[in-house]
Amino acid sequence: MAALTFAHHILFSKPSVFLHSTKHGFNTLFSVSVPAPFLRRYKSSQTIAAASSLLELGGVKISKEDVVKDEPTNNVPDLIFTKLGLQLHRRDHHPLGILKNAIYEYFDTNYNNQFHKFDDLCPIVTTKENFDDVLVPSDHVSRSYNDTYYIDTETVLRCHTSAHQADLLRKGYANFLVTGDVYRRDSIDSTHYPVFHQMEGVRVFSPNDWNDSGMDATLYAAHDLKACLEGLARHLFGAVEMRWVDSYFPFTNPSFELEIYFQEKWLEVLGCGVMEQEILKRGGKSDNVAWAFGLGLERLAMVLFDIPDIRLFWSTDKRFTSQFTKGQLGIKFKPFSKYPPCYKDMSFWINESFTENNLCEIVRGVAGDLAEEVQLIDNFTNKKGMTSHCYRITYRSMERSLTDEEINELQWNVRDQVQSQMNIVLR
Ligand code: DAH
Repeated sequence: MAALTFAHHILFSKPSVFLHSTKHGFNTLFSVSVPAPFLRRYKSSQTIAAASSLLELGGVKISKEDVVKDEPTNNVPDLIFTKLGLQLHRRDHHPLGILKNAIYEYFDTNYNNQFHKFDDLCPIVTTKENFDDVLVPSDHVSRSYNDTYYIDTETVLRCHTSAHQADLLRKGYANFLVTGDVYRRDSIDSTHYPVFHQMEGVRVFSPNDWNDSGMDATLYAAHDLKACLEGLARHLFGAVEMRWVDSYFPFTNPSFELEIYFQEKWLEVLGCGVMEQEILKRGGKSDNVAWAFGLGLERLAMVLFDIPDIRLFWSTDKRFTSQFTKGQLGIKFKPFSKYPPCYKDMSFWINESFTENNLCEIVRGVAGDLAEEVQLIDNFTNKKGMTSHCYRITYRSMERSLTDEEINELQWNVRDQVQSQMNIVLR
């Protein structure tokens, strides 16, 4: 798993390379059918914003009822609603805000402030914007209710910032950066959280730009893209070794990934490529060519600031928040204390609708950020063809010691909900 730890940050690349291909069930292709009843929300133990309070996101007023609905076509849990509007990437003293600003600085300086910067676009988008407009195939795994949070059959919480590409092109923007919170149903471990942050970049060229270069349009764009992103990687990481890896995304062709050699490992930094001509054509820009990239802010920030667990980004504990300063990318996080973990195992026969994402959703609904990891530790099929799974749940707080009593209660709650929501008999 080590090399794949950040796989979900690039969901749209080839499954064989970047999805959890070794993990059961994750990269099976799911059809977009109405979700099974067990996908219903689980009331979390956390406090939820009062039903009447309105959030304002990118100029759009949103109430809880707009997002969390008691309908079979809605799979947004209360816990996810509490994250909407927090916009960690807009806090100048937060590692994600510091990183965003460092990337802005690179683009502002090197492109003479030509890039338009968006960091407040509403994360509620249509399936057309999230998938169709960027040419995600109709049977792509990312469209499933198992992977994406649906508000209704045509509305989702964006699962990538690429959801805004087409609209901004249509509005006439030629150079832009979009930073935002993105949402994905996923597994639970130190690098996976159902809300994380991405930055998207797009640059459009016109014939004048490439005509004198002696290169064809695509080659010209690919060349410019690579130079731009190598410069960005040096700006963030210093004089590191880099390599380009061929990749696949539905929205670009050719597609690449940039990797840097950092702390003795090759680290995947971002995905990018020359934008599919079809996207430009639909945006009224048939004569142009463009490049695009997308990067996950958490994965870069974890490396740059030495942050060991993705849950820390959400911590309001002063011992975390006070360690970072506006404008300072070089600061290394000093763990304040490591509290003891508590492990609880749970075995059951799976049924055909079982998915690990659904199990993780229940665990998060009950334990919130006290859930550190959900790991499959045993998996066998008996002679009758029944498959048994044993999962180990690790509970640990980043901020305090947990009592046995409190963990037992969480675990009983998880067991209850697994049986009632997933229709599963525990062994
Ligand atoms: N949207 C992709 C993801 O979330 C990341 C990405 C890859 C964005 C390539 C791009 C791109 O714009 O060109 O996995």
